Amino acid sequence: MMKKTTNPNEINFKDKFDLNDKVIVITGACGLIGKAFCEAVCQFGANVVVVDIESSEPKKFAKKLSKKHNKEMFGFSVDVSNKKSVTLLKNKILKKTKKINGLVNAHQNKSHLIFEKFEELNEDNWDKVVDVNLKGTFLMCQIIGTHMAENGGGKIVNLPSTYSVVAPNQNLYKGTNMGCPAAYSASKGGVEALSKYLSSYWASKNIQVNMITPHGVWNHHEKQFEENFAKFSPMERMSYNHEVASSLIYLLSDASSYVTGDNLLVEGGWTVW
Ligand SMILES: NC(=O)c1ccc[n+]([C@@H]2O[C@H](COP(=O)([O-])OP(=O)(O)OC[C@H]3O[C@@H](n4cnc5c(N)ncnc54)[C@H](O)[C@@H]3O)[C@@H](O)[C@H]2O)c1
Repeated sequence: MMKKTTNPNEINFKDKFDLNDKVIVITGACGLIGKAFCEAVCQFGANVVVVDIESSEPKKFAKKLSKKHNKEMFGFSVDVSNKKSVTLLKNKILKKTKKINGLVNAHQNKSHLIFEKFEELNEDNWDKVVDVNLKGTFLMCQIIGTHMAENGGGKIVNLPSTYSVVAPNQNLYKGTNMGCPAAYSASKGGVEALSKYLSSYWASKNIQVNMITPHGVWNHHEKQFEENFAKFSPMERMSYNHEVASSLIYLLSDASSYVTGDNLLVEGGWTVW
């Protein structure tokens, strides 16, 4: 129950950000942003459940986090687009932790990085991207989210993209080998709509569903791309994964107790002009 008061002196604002002993499930946890999410959430006291595909070695990463933070963390190899695999994950987590307080969907299918012109976009690639990005988020919300909804509530944070908010500026990719295929934008548009839907659907069950939209997170990009990016960004630079992670603490903690259905844009003002 939220404290009913008009006196801010009665509130410890630092404590609002505490995640001590919360169990937070993070998908795509071994990725660029996922890794920063895990580290940040561990630093604020949570037990992290590292979820990723086998080849990304989630168990190994969970072990590393356990050792560093001297706390039990868990790692599971899961394909989020497979319902059986996600159901099994929920059972395995609950066997270990007995509870789940938060879910963060930070997975993505990388085939979108290989740019395909819209006219030639391969149907199988479309299916792969939509399956992992959108269906994967749906299944994780349905299976883990439903458990939280039936057991007192929790927090869900999904990751759409600037390209669910605005269209890609095609000039960004001039002179580079990069691009953003339509399947990625479409799948992320679905993630945004699904998140808004669930924020109202589960509001009465004490579930808050919010989003973080990162943009241009630096990962040793080619120089031309970095230069192009700076030209179109109000802040004239790309971002770093740790800059995205701070916003997650806010959305997973009591600090955001009256926020739901929101899309927190960590995009350096990209969509402002
Ligand atoms: N990096 C950016 O600039 C940026 C911008 C906007 C949005 N995003 C979104 O943020 C999220 C994280 O991005 P990132 O840059 O860390 O991506 P990343 O590619 O570095 O990491 C994605 C992770 O998802 C995992 N994954 C792939 N398929 C999976 C499956 N079927 N089941 C479970 N895990 C699977 C991968 O193994 C990988 O570890 C993604 O949803 C992405 O679309 C990123």
